[in-house]
Amino acid sequence: MDNSITTRLRNKYWFIFFILFVFWYTLLHGFDWSSLPGLTSISHDQEKPIYSLVSDSIHVTYNHEENEVVITNSGDMNTTDVVDDAEDDKLVDDSSTDNDVIEDVNDLEKELEPIFAKDDVDYGVDHIKNKENGKQQDSCRGRYIYVHELPSRFNDDLIKQCKSLNKWNDMCQYLVNNGLGSELGNPGRIFSRTGWFNTNQFSLELIFHNRMKQYECLTNDSSKAAAIFVPYYGGLDVSRYLWGSNVSVRDSDSLDVMKWLREKPEWDVMWGKDHFMVAGRITWDFRRGVDDDNSWGNKLMLLPESKNMTILTIESSPWNRNDFAIPYPTYFHPWTDYDMVQWQNKMRKQRRKSLFCFVGAPRPNMQYSIRGELMEQCKSSSRKCSLLECTNDRNKCQKPVYITKMFQNSVFCLQPPGDSFTRRSTFDSILAGCIPVFFSPGCAYVQYLWHLPKDFNKYSILIPEDDVKNKRVSVEKKLSQISKARVLAMREEVIKLIPNVIYADPRSRLRKFHDAFDLSVKGVLERVELLRKEIKEGKNFSTNFDEEDSWKYYTFGTVETHEWDHFFLRTDRSKYY
Ligand SMILES: *[C@@H]1O[C@H](CO)[C@@H](O)[C@H](O)[C@H]1NC(C)=O
Ligand SMILES: *[C@@H]1O[C@H](CO)[C@@H](O)[C@H](O)[C@H]1NC(C)=O
Ligand SMILES: *[C@@H]1O[C@H](CO)[C@@H](O)[C@H](O)[C@H]1NC(C)=O
Ligand SMILES: *[C@@H]1O[C@H](CO)[C@@H](O)[C@H](O)[C@H]1NC(C)=O
Ligand SMILES: *[C@@H]1O[C@H](CO)[C@@H](O)[C@H](O)[C@H]1NC(C)=O
Repeated sequence: MDNSITTRLRNKYWFIFFILFVFWYTLLHGFDWSSLPGLTSISHDQEKPIYSLVSDSIHVTYNHEENEVVITNSGDMNTTDVVDDAEDDKLVDDSSTDNDVIEDVNDLEKELEPIFAKDDVDYGVDHIKNKENGKQQDSCRGRYIYVHELPSRFNDDLIKQCKSLNKWNDMCQYLVNNGLGSELGNPGRIFSRTGWFNTNQFSLELIFHNRMKQYECLTNDSSKAAAIFVPYYGGLDVSRYLWGSNVSVRDSDSLDVMKWLREKPEWDVMWGKDHFMVAGRITWDFRRGVDDDNSWGNKLMLLPESKNMTILTIESSPWNRNDFAIPYPTYFHPWTDYDMVQWQNKMRKQRRKSLFCFVGAPRPNMQYSIRGELMEQCKSSSRKCSLLECTNDRNKCQKPVYITKMFQNSVFCLQPPGDSFTRRSTFDSILAGCIPVFFSPGCAYVQYLWHLPKDFNKYSILIPEDDVKNKRVSVEKKLSQISKARVLAMREEVIKLIPNVIYADPRSRLRKFHDAFDLSVKGVLERVELLRKEIKEGKNFSTNFDEEDSWKYYTFGTVETHEWDHFFLRTDRSKYY
């Protein structure tokens, strides 16, 4: 009996491989090679054979892709110091990609199709099948979008003026690559082989427009369209004038674009209620209530035309009807479904040494801000909390590699409000598989209704900000008490959410995953459909509530008293300005 088992084992190479794998795996992952200066590239080279021994087929392909990186960079002297000099080194050189490898990867990708299909993201598969059978007509019914051809001064010319778009920042570097920004490469292997860009949080208008150009159900016949897209770059427009201009200059282009829209025959069909646009800054930059040069922003969202439109923005107003929040753009813009799966697997395997972390700056001038208190708590739990303090512009906070690395190494990421409710950091943390900790439902739960699950307990923690402000809660204690099983379940949920909150590369198209753009379009189409039905029936139900209660109506479908009401008292509103 014993003998026969031994013989069998001897015949099976995989068993030996397995032992070798366990040995190398322990050696590499049990030891932090990056801590040895000069050894980084060696550990990369050694990782090559190790990954190829993993029995899971996804990892085998992973290796194929990564091999390429290693080969490309094997003679690169700069590889060793990339961890220290993240932004300046671009490691991945796509032009040197070997055709054979590409074919190889494509083949493997096909083999992997059944694995992808198992992911619970198949709700778009029907339509893809239809398209492949040449029946695109049917699958696009109810989804056609007509894109207005605006005069170029409302969009393309703004990109040409990139130098003057922002008083503090040269935006030009961020608007290249279809709005994704310059490529980051893969310094220190923090990111993945491709798909990482130095994306600016205010680039959404350009990214969204470029995605729209690839939308599969565009039409030139506006009478066939379910919705009408207005590619006006309102955020880039107003950003030129936020500091020091008078109100007439600030409002001028948004007034002109509305005038232009109203004169088009498409407007009269539904008084603009089938029109939508993206405003890639927070809503408060477009809601100037009074015509006073000292007041903030323009009044784009208060114009009678835009009140009839649906406006997508990175932070919506809880107290207004016409804007809907969609995710801030983060750094990852995958080219294929495969890139997405690969990243998710990488985040699943990540070792997370910190219980929680915070990246950000204090707000000493904001009376209500809890950031100072959170930073104090983080400093005093230094063994469990990592802090990246953003004290000046030139520090690590500006560098995606440091932020991403810290989030990848943490179980929880604190996301307190800053100047306003929301932060781009929320999406950076989801992307890194770090469970977000919010301090008000205004920071995400009543915002990203089309992208995040209703049941917020599944993917995040809520610690009421008053408890922090009044020192009634120890964040460390609270987070330590969460069971290991719940942490694992939440992290898995966060990792599954990654596709929902990223914008795929506009030059490509994901097949299996629905990204933030797809979910936004879906949300708009459903909303316009509802408005169309109301007009047809002469009804009013979707606007038949006090506008102040918009957050509640859109989140819960009712305006009854809710335990969150105190988070949205207007009297507290000053804290978000
Ligand atoms: C290393 O990088 C610097 C600047 O990023 C470049 O000038 C230099 O040629 C590189 N060295 C090698 C060996 O590639
Ligand atoms: C719409 O018209 C433009 C130019 O007239 C053309 O380039 C484009 O392909 C058309 N798009 C569709 C979806 O028919
Ligand atoms: C606003 O500023 C512009 C440009 O500086 C100037 O031409 C215009 O006269 C100003 N308008 C008012 C009402 O002050
Ligand atoms: C907005 O829609 C209403 C109907 O709900 C209509 O009476 C009004 O004229 C529209 N506003 C504009 C600017 O078209
Ligand atoms: C629609 O609802 C608003 C707000 O409740 C109300 O003021 C308006 O009169 C209603 N319009 C119609 C046509 O019922």
